[in-house]
Amino acid sequence: MLKRLSVALVAGALAFGVAACGGEEAGGGSTGGGGDDKITMGFAQVGAESGWRTANTKSIQESAASAGIELKFSDAQQKQENQIKAIRSYIAQKVDVIAFSPVVETGWDTVLKEAKDANIPVILTDRAVDSQDTSLYKTFIGSDFVLEGKKAGEWLVKEYEGKTEPVNIVQLEGTTGSAPANDRKSGFTDVIKADPKFKIIASQTGEFTRAKGKEVMEALIKANPDIDVLYAHNDDMGLGAIEAIEAAGKKPGTDIKIITVDAVKDGMTALAAGKINFIVECSPLLGPQLMDLAKKVVKGEQVEQRVLTEETTFTPEQAKAALPERKY
Ligand code: AHR
Repeated sequence: MLKRLSVALVAGALAFGVAACGGEEAGGGSTGGGGDDKITMGFAQVGAESGWRTANTKSIQESAASAGIELKFSDAQQKQENQIKAIRSYIAQKVDVIAFSPVVETGWDTVLKEAKDANIPVILTDRAVDSQDTSLYKTFIGSDFVLEGKKAGEWLVKEYEGKTEPVNIVQLEGTTGSAPANDRKSGFTDVIKADPKFKIIASQTGEFTRAKGKEVMEALIKANPDIDVLYAHNDDMGLGAIEAIEAAGKKPGTDIKIITVDAVKDGMTALAAGKINFIVECSPLLGPQLMDLAKKVVKGEQVEQRVLTEETTFTPEQAKAALPERKY
């Protein structure tokens, strides 16, 4: 690590960090001191809300270990204030680089300025911020969520090609104010709005969790007996909704067509079984690229401002073929 503090000072700061974050410190009990040239990264994770997030955390922890990067990890439990506390704790500990996946898009300028003033580079992973001042972070690695929404919409348009009957759609949105919820919604709407037969009859947040997806879908089915399509912003909400659909005596994938985003193993299994009709992939395996970027920004090297992840889509047949090799 490019050490800036003595062991005693950093140990004190770390103790503050654990208390302040209200989450766990993972990544092998970093001391933040020691005098070698090992890089220390503070990573403020969103939470553990979905299968995608679990795979993302694993990828980051494993990649840090194999890249020889000391990782200080905190789980914000989907709360922005916890992430801000964690970032401040990493600044106090004088880590070499901070990476985080912002819970929501807005409200980051103050803490990002604090990191900049402390000369600690910041890397956004997975989710973007809406800050006008792009000098507040070095780079952003993650998916194009608008494109994901568009892919979902394009599948739907094709699926109902040549049909004129109204198509009643319900949407389970991700965490309110988050980049994937905002962008997946706008990308999808942009594609389907050209054809008036597509009607979004209800749209509510399911907070990216299976439990909330089930709860909201139960209410939506009661209020809207004629749902043709469910568009869920992630697999977990879709899987929760499948339970609600089955409990209501309907057949997911047939009575109600289902589109989701992520392509985690559980989602792909439901797709292969015909309970989901189409999944847009969003890759959680950001760890290796994140560690490469971290090494570069710590050295002061120039990096691209936007690093996109490569993703595909899956039909049930494609899911069957991909499942045996699926890592998450
Ligand atoms: O930001 C990525 C999204 O967050 C994933 O699609 C979702 O599953 C997660 O919780």
